[in-house]
Amino acid sequence: MQAFGRQAPLIVEIGFGNGDSLAAMAAANPHLNYLGIEVHRPGVGHLMMLLEQQGINNVRIYHHDAIEILERKIADHSLAGIHLFFPDPWQKRRHHKRRIVRPSFVDLLNKKLAVGGYFHAATDWEHYAKDMLAILSAGAGLRNTSPSGDFCPRPAYRPLTKFENRGLGLGHGVWDLIFAKL
Ligand SMILES: C[S@@+](CC[C@H](N)C(=O)[O-])C[C@H]1O[C@@H](n2cnc3c(N)ncnc32)[C@H](O)[C@@H]1O
Repeated sequence: MQAFGRQAPLIVEIGFGNGDSLAAMAAANPHLNYLGIEVHRPGVGHLMMLLEQQGINNVRIYHHDAIEILERKIADHSLAGIHLFFPDPWQKRRHHKRRIVRPSFVDLLNKKLAVGGYFHAATDWEHYAKDMLAILSAGAGLRNTSPSGDFCPRPAYRPLTKFENRGLGLGHGVWDLIFAKL
C-alpha cells in the first residue's frame, strides 16, 4: 500500500474500537504495516490521538465499513493477516445475519489474504465462537491452525482489548480462532 511509503507485510484490523490494542500491537511490531478500519468516529479519533502521542507511524486508518474497504480498496491476495477482535455478537437469532463472519465473508478472506496469511478472530461469546468455527471450517481455502481443530490460546502478539476486559469482568470466557490461507 502506497500510503505507508514502504514495503512491509500488511495486517488489517476490522473494528478496532478505541484502538488501544491496535496501537499496542503496532508499537510492538514496527516491521509490520497495520490498517485499522472502524465505523465508530470517536474510536477513530482516539486511535489518531494515541498514534500521535506515542509517535507510532506504521498504522493507517479508514473510517468506513470494513467489508466495503476490503472489497474495493485492498488488492487480492495482498494481506499478511486480518484481525477481527470481539466483533458485535448480534445475539438474537433474527440478527445473526448482521454478523461479520458468514459464508460470504470467508470468500472475501480467501480473496484478500496472501498464501500463508492468516485470519484471527476472538470473541467472548461462546455461541458466536462456535458459529465462527463452523463457518470457517466449512469454507475451502483456509486451514485451522489449532492442533485440536477448534480454538487456540491467545497468542502473545494479541493484547487484551477493551471489550475483552469488559467481558472478562462479566465472567465471560474468551475464544481465539486462527486460520491460515492455503
Ligand atoms: C464490540 S466492539 C470491539 C472493539 C475492539 N475490537 C475491542 O475488542 O475492544 C466492535 C467494533 O466493531 C466496529 N464495527 C462493527 N461493524 C463494523 C464494520 N462493518 N466495519 C468497521 N467497523 C465495524 C464497531 O463500531 C465497534 O467499534
